[in-house]
Amino acid sequence: MIIEPRMRGFICLTSHPKGSEQNIINQINYVKTKGKIEGPKNVLVIGASTGFGLASRITSAFGSDAATIGVFFEKPPQKGRTASPGWYNSVFFQEQAEKAGIYAKSINADAFSFETKKKTIDLIKADLGKIDLVVYSLASPVRTNPRTGELHRSALKPIGSNFTDKTVDFHTGIVSTVSIDPCTDEDIENTVAVMGGEDWEMWIDALLEADVLAENAKTIAYSYIGPKLTEPVYRKGTIGKAKDHLEATAFEITKKLNSLNGNAFVSVNKALVTQASSAIPVIPLYISLLYKVMKAKGIHEGCIEQIYRLFDERLYVNGSTPLDENGRIRIDDWEMRTDVQEEVAALWLKATTESLPELGDLNGYKDDFLNLFGFGFDGVDYAADTEEDLMMNGLVE
Ligand code: NAI
Repeated sequence: MIIEPRMRGFICLTSHPKGSEQNIINQINYVKTKGKIEGPKNVLVIGASTGFGLASRITSAFGSDAATIGVFFEKPPQKGRTASPGWYNSVFFQEQAEKAGIYAKSINADAFSFETKKKTIDLIKADLGKIDLVVYSLASPVRTNPRTGELHRSALKPIGSNFTDKTVDFHTGIVSTVSIDPCTDEDIENTVAVMGGEDWEMWIDALLEADVLAENAKTIAYSYIGPKLTEPVYRKGTIGKAKDHLEATAFEITKKLNSLNGNAFVSVNKALVTQASSAIPVIPLYISLLYKVMKAKGIHEGCIEQIYRLFDERLYVNGSTPLDENGRIRIDDWEMRTDVQEEVAALWLKATTESLPELGDLNGYKDDFLNLFGFGFDGVDYAADTEEDLMMNGLVE
């Protein structure tokens, strides 16, 4: 079929397999040009099909020849209907790993459930023995707690008072004012239940109990801080409470990994266009201004550049991993540079529908958004008849 983008708000209903393939090849080529890392050998990536998790899988496999098991929750294709982009990403990751002789298997299921944890552990025991790196990179709006059966829905809201500021509809470029009512206590609890550290800890508990973590094993989860501008809706909002919880959980997990001489880390990453971040009000306007400033300074990075640098210069650096005063890895260091933040804050005040095309990198935002769904890649013939019904090798049912 001929596959075209069909946008609905901040999602796209279609995705293009050939573009996903190109996305995987581009990321692998980036890692290859940067060179090998003395990194992990057997890696479990939870949330492995898109964004930072996919980049973590590619960096592990192609940067340090690691065997990877990927867990994700993606929609397979049906005849006449495309799969979700993470499905195609994983089809082509698998293909490239096989070509390179690198072990890769995947589980497409709800990572929050006990069943998926058990299935993953069985696979580790059967194929790999022990894991030396667990990447926890889930981003989800909902979670069913397997202990209570309760379904939690996260909220993206400020705490305490109403928040009003500018935002942009990145499809139309219209800058408008958004006003978000403060959350309830329940919103906070639910958001912490979905995006906090409870499930990460449950994974590590299950892996420890099954004795499938190697001596010196590391685990890492991803967090975000961002500027003053987005604080009310991000770091000081409901999602920020979840990130506080995730960051605190790292210390608890490190204690549990003591007997293995293992470590749990949180890395604070840069704001990037992913399916998760485009859903947060205000963030798209901030990102389009940030991209403009960082590109002009030659310090812009995407997911793969961020994660390669994280592995190479933080997680697997000679000596101990550098941390901030709160014990976190900072790979958002370039985003948070004073000169970058001062310029973004000044542009923010001036940004209007008329001025944004010049002040910001709205096109860069749109291109990245299209790329998430496999559209807009050079070298892909989007007018060609394309097979959408692609099955995945290495998928464990
Ligand atoms: P994403 O939306 O690109 O990826 C989410 C992944 O989670 C996908 O592989 C998806 O299949 C998987 N997933 C979702 N629900 C699942 C479930 N129930 N079971 C199994 N897999 C499931 O997200 P992104 O942006 O890469 O986020 C990953 C982490 O990085 C999140 O913790 C996020 O807060 C953090 N982060 C994101 C930043 C950004 O600007 N995008 C900045 C800093 C941190």
